[in-house]
Amino acid sequence: MGILDGRVVIVTGAGRGIGRAEALECARQGAAVVLAEFDPSPAYDVADEIIAAGGRAIVASGDVAETDFVDRVVASTVEEFGRLDALVNNAGILRTNELANMTDEEWDSVIRVHLRGHFVPTRAVCRYWRASGRPGRIVHTTSVAGLFGFYGQANYSAAKAGIAVLTATVASEMAQYGVTSNAIAPMALTRMTTDIVDDEHQAKNGEFLFLDADNVAPMVTYLCSADSGHISGKVFGVQGDSIEIFQPFTSAAEIKAGGRRWDPAELTDRVGELFEASGIPAGPENGVDKMRYKALG
Ligand SMILES: NC(=O)c1ccc[n+]([C@@H]2O[C@H](COP(=O)([O-])OP(=O)(O)OC[C@H]3O[C@@H](n4cnc5c(N)ncnc54)[C@H](O)[C@@H]3O)[C@@H](O)[C@H]2O)c1
Repeated sequence: MGILDGRVVIVTGAGRGIGRAEALECARQGAAVVLAEFDPSPAYDVADEIIAAGGRAIVASGDVAETDFVDRVVASTVEEFGRLDALVNNAGILRTNELANMTDEEWDSVIRVHLRGHFVPTRAVCRYWRASGRPGRIVHTTSVAGLFGFYGQANYSAAKAGIAVLTATVASEMAQYGVTSNAIAPMALTRMTTDIVDDEHQAKNGEFLFLDADNVAPMVTYLCSADSGHISGKVFGVQGDSIEIFQPFTSAAEIKAGGRRWDPAELTDRVGELFEASGIPAGPENGVDKMRYKALG
C-alpha cells in the first residue's frame, strides 16, 4: 500500500534530478506517472525503471511552455489512465549572469520555461478539474532565489518569485473546486547545481547524503496525496532531512499621514520610522544570509 495507490500524476522535467526522484517516489507510492520532459532519452530511462519495478509510466516528450503539447498531455493522460489527480510543475533551466551583463535571450528563456512552463500546465489541469468535478493537487517548484533573491540570478529569481505568488493565487481561485496549490523550494545536487553546490557538504553528513535529490521527493509525494487536502497556498523549503514552511511577504510596519496626502519632503524624516519599527535594514541585503542551510553560494 502506498499513499498514491490508484492515483495519476504528471511530473514535468521528470527525466533528471529532482523531477526524476519525484516521478520514481510517486510510482513507488502507487501512482501511474506521466513524465513530461523535453529530453526523451533520460525520460524513457525513468519510465523503464518504473515499469521494471511493476509500476505504470508513460513519456510525453516536449516543451512544457507549449500550450498545444501540454493540452495534449493532459488529454492523453485522462484517456490512458481514466483520471488525473496531481500535477508536479518541476521543469526548469538556469542561465546565470549579473543583470548588467544579462542578454535578452537569457532573460526570456528562463522566464519562459519557469513562469510560462508553470502557467500552461496549471491552466490545463485546472480546466480539467473544474470540468470534471474531481479534486486535484498541484505542486509548483519555486526556489530560495525567488524568496530571498540570489546574486547573478535576476531572471531565475524573478521567475521563481512569480511562481511563489502564482501558488497562492491558484490556491485561492481553485479552492472552490477542491484543488490545492502548494510550492516547494528545494535544494539538491543535480545537473543544475553541480557548479555552485559545495560538494564537501555531502561528505560531512556521512551516510545520509543531505543534498540527494531523492530527499526532496517524499514531501512532494505527500502534497500529491489525498491526505494533504487541507493544505493550500503554502511554500515549503525541502532539502536533506529538513522541511520548512516559509512566511509569505507580510506587512511589518506602517506610518500614516493623518487623513491627508503625504508631502514627499516629510518622508525624508518619517520613512526611517518604518525601519526602526520593523528592524528591517534600509540597504540591500544578501538573500543567501537568510537561508537556514548555506550549501549554495
Ligand atoms: N537543484 C536545486 O538545488 C534546486 C534549487 C531550487 C530550485 N530548483 C528547481 O527544481 C527544479 C528541478 O531542477 P533540477 O535541479 O532537478 O534540474 P535538472 O537540470 O537536473 O532537471 C531539469 C529537467 O527539466 C527538463 N526541462 C527543462 N526545460 C524543459 C521544458 N521546457 N519542458 C520540459 N522539460 C524541461 C530538463 O530536460 C531536465 O531533465 C527546477 O525548477 C529548478 O529551478 C532546484
